[in-house]
Amino acid sequence: MRTYKVAIVGTGGIAAVHADNLARTENRAELVAACDVDAARLDAFCDQHGIAGRYQTLTELLGEAKPDIVHLCTPPMMHIDQAIECLEAGVHVLSEKPPALSLADFDRLDKAQAKGGAQFSCVFQHRFGDASAAARTLIGGTEFGRPLVARCDTLWYRPDSYWDLPWRGTWNAEGGGPTMGHGIHQFDLLLHLMGPWEEVTAIASRQARATSTEDLSAALVRFENGAVATIINSLLSPRETSDIRIDCEFATVELSHLYGYNTDNWTITGAPGNEDQVKDAWTGQPLDRGSGHSAQFLAMYDALDAGRPLPADADSARQTLELAAAIYASAFTGQSVRRGEIIPGHPFYGGMDGDGLGTRMLADTARV
Ligand SMILES: NC(=O)c1ccc[n+]([C@@H]2O[C@H](COP(=O)([O-])OP(=O)(O)OC[C@H]3O[C@@H](n4cnc5c(N)ncnc54)[C@H](O)[C@@H]3O)[C@@H](O)[C@H]2O)c1
Repeated sequence: MRTYKVAIVGTGGIAAVHADNLARTENRAELVAACDVDAARLDAFCDQHGIAGRYQTLTELLGEAKPDIVHLCTPPMMHIDQAIECLEAGVHVLSEKPPALSLADFDRLDKAQAKGGAQFSCVFQHRFGDASAAARTLIGGTEFGRPLVARCDTLWYRPDSYWDLPWRGTWNAEGGGPTMGHGIHQFDLLLHLMGPWEEVTAIASRQARATSTEDLSAALVRFENGAVATIINSLLSPRETSDIRIDCEFATVELSHLYGYNTDNWTITGAPGNEDQVKDAWTGQPLDRGSGHSAQFLAMYDALDAGRPLPADADSARQTLELAAAIYASAFTGQSVRRGEIIPGHPFYGGMDGDGLGTRMLADTARV
């Protein structure tokens, strides 16, 4: 097993979670450098985490610290250009979500990966850990049966002050509201468990917050395997919860948590007459390893050690981003949208508000 040299770019809120989780990877990563445009924040972060290499630009960091992997913990609008700079320099990237603000931007990754020979991966930490692997194995198998109907709710609460940060709540900086910034984790996990989506019909609205994007979206999704799911992404919900429920032929699979989970957050219920078969199938899976950032980091090092594609790679992250784009496209055009429909020339290929259509629709229908 190699020890990978890791650098963190952007030393704000989520960077501390990355540093703490890197410290839990049993010497498989060494945090060698960090970068921030804010020198005081950079120093405080490096002092706290014992980081020697301190840089105010990514270019200097890449040239001097020569990391194997860069973690992008910067605001959303910076991810894609910084990812491309790293990839072209032959450095692997683990980017915080959302991976890009549009499919057009995201598709620039292909060339950069080919040029530098390095790989892109997106932080979708809920996919990792034993329980989600067990659920993914069993859903669609003989014991649980095929998935039929599902629910995916990200019901969070953010007060007005949340939008005080200048990059929050703008199409240009975040690419959207709770669909792109919050619910994306949960519906990424839904896709991971259920397989490819096929068609979506959605509503997005601004109900109560003084932001320029939506503060609520609701979608009805049909999957390739025929299952139907509802997805709600809300920042308006005083009792916060993140829930997924998947009803299969012989079992109901439920995950209920807030910002992260372990195996205890899952409930598995057998259909009448199938209780034992379902319980045995679940408890027969490995269930010890929890979810979270360190689980994703370790899966990434395993893949690099073995020369395999990275988990949460560009292809799978693109499916999730494409569903976000399709939710906006459906909400703002009033039409259902099929996977594969948003291609160059489509108004929602270049941005999540469809050349200003979303901005106009939300302004016309806003309740604030
Ligand atoms: N995976 C998760 O559960 C999770 C949770 C929270 C946030 N996030 C994501 O993490 C990202 C960062 O969020 P945050 O809350 O930490 O933001 P933040 O504003 O607290 O931190 C961002 C940092 O990036 C720095 N920065 C800005 N421009 C830079 C540049 N050009 N080069 C280097 N540094 C630069 C800022 O000075 C700041 O310190 C966002 O994309 C957010 O969506 C993910």
